[in-house]
Amino acid sequence: MKNIVVLISGNGSNLQAIIDSVENGAINGQITAVISNKPEVYGLQRAEHSHIPALVLDHREFDDRNLFEEELISLIDDHKPDLLVLAGFMRILSSEFVQHYLGKIVNIHPSLLPKYKGLHTHRRVLENGDTEHGTSVHFVTAELDGGPIIAQRKITVEANDTEQSLQQKIQQQEHQLYPQVVAWFCDGTLRFEDGQAVFTD
Ligand code: GAR
Repeated sequence: MKNIVVLISGNGSNLQAIIDSVENGAINGQITAVISNKPEVYGLQRAEHSHIPALVLDHREFDDRNLFEEELISLIDDHKPDLLVLAGFMRILSSEFVQHYLGKIVNIHPSLLPKYKGLHTHRRVLENGDTEHGTSVHFVTAELDGGPIIAQRKITVEANDTEQSLQQKIQQQEHQLYPQVVAWFCDGTLRFEDGQAVFTD
């Protein structure tokens, strides 16, 4: 059984979807810690509700990013992760950090990567008049939102869509996609090899 550590910064609805899949046996793993860089976010309550250690490491208490990341690595490694899941974790990570977990760190991003790296993806989709949008799960590499894509889900953008409605539709897709990817990693179907996402079947 694989150990999973989840990093969050907020609501944690993707965390919840993964917790649910662990609890119903769809993921062959256990979540050994949830760590937030922001105190008092709802995702921490979700973890506590499922009796998962819920920890806070507030980046504002550190003088620079290196010191924050050193402490974050130490906290994560205390919980012996086979897989590190970024679920709405809104800090940019250094290449040293990423290197430490290379091949076992994944992220979910609300766009059809490589389109719309960075922030405000729903707004940019609307501004550009795109007719399709989506979400991507990828292995994390040093390039922001640029690691190899594992899987994507698409939605159609309707004429009356708003940033909010797109966010809702995208999150519905995310809550199916992310647990599926975590399950693939945990059962060995998915791995990172030579800088690529590789599937056994
Ligand atoms: C998710 O929609 C995720 O795609 C996005 O943050 C949201 C977190 O929601 N991530 C990013 O924008 C990363 N660049 P949640 O806290 O309810 O899971």
